[in-house]
Amino acid sequence: MTGRLEGRTAVVTGGGRGIGAGIARVFAAEGARVLIATRTLKRGEEVAAAINKAGGEASAMATDVSDADQVAAMVAEARKRYGAIDIMAHNAGIFPSSTIVKMKEAEWDQVLDTNLKSLFLVCKAVLPHMTHRNYGRIVVTSSISGPRVGMPGWSHYCASKAGVNGFLKSAALEVAKKGVTINAVEPGNIQIRATGSKMAQAHEDTMKQAIPMGYLGQPEDIAYAALYLASDEARYVTGQTIVVDGGQILPESQSGIL
Ligand SMILES: NC(=O)c1ccc[n+]([C@@H]2O[C@H](COP(=O)([O-])OP(=O)(O)OC[C@H]3O[C@@H](n4cnc5c(N)ncnc54)[C@H](O)[C@@H]3O)[C@@H](O)[C@H]2O)c1
Repeated sequence: MTGRLEGRTAVVTGGGRGIGAGIARVFAAEGARVLIATRTLKRGEEVAAAINKAGGEASAMATDVSDADQVAAMVAEARKRYGAIDIMAHNAGIFPSSTIVKMKEAEWDQVLDTNLKSLFLVCKAVLPHMTHRNYGRIVVTSSISGPRVGMPGWSHYCASKAGVNGFLKSAALEVAKKGVTINAVEPGNIQIRATGSKMAQAHEDTMKQAIPMGYLGQPEDIAYAALYLASDEARYVTGQTIVVDGGQILPESQSGIL
């Protein structure tokens, strides 16, 4: 631990597993007090317990980030527990797959509400607090899917993440004079669970072939980029994204990679 977030408080949405749990662990290891806000309270509590056992400080609460009242309650609760919110890592997201022709309108709405509308709700709830204090770091988990590349079956997801990148540029400008920065990490393919079924293994093998480095990333690979954007060192960076993808979006073709 190097204490890069010593004395800071952070909220991590979707921190009960996967990338969000990695962000919560890394932020806590760097000294931040962390509120894990996630849909499934039990998972959030498990991650918080592991952080506390390791000598960090974390707690959890149940929140649906697509619900305006629950997002407002999350911000109020974080302020109540920790006094202030320095860092908001908005990471919660869903990625069900469906082709456009088969997709129901409700599926489209659910993905856009969870992945994109939630960012608006989170910013609306937390920005008055951050701008009042003249300090804030908002770090969003975006994706290469949408902003950089397309994926058949994920048009709603890609639209939501491209929307995230567009939103954060305007949001960053609105608060640029107020000590608040808004940035995102764009993960490539990150291994969030042990591979179970044959189908999941086959999908993972296909993805590996598309990654020049030859392996999927780990949640901590994203968390360390989020850590930089959440730190004081990144004070002059706003409205930007960092791609963390093992080189996946680089090749014009796969030939010639050693
Ligand atoms: N895993 C990848 O390869 C990858 C790649 C690019 C981007 N991402 C993004 O990373 C983020 C985290 O995903 P992950 O891969 O860790 O998946 P995950 O399913 O392990 O984690 C998602 C988390 O978000 C929470 N969540 C979902 N809907 C919610 C809601 N309405 N309210 C509150 N919490 C909610 C879930 O409970 C879970 O804790 C997502 O935004 C996802 O789009 C993941």
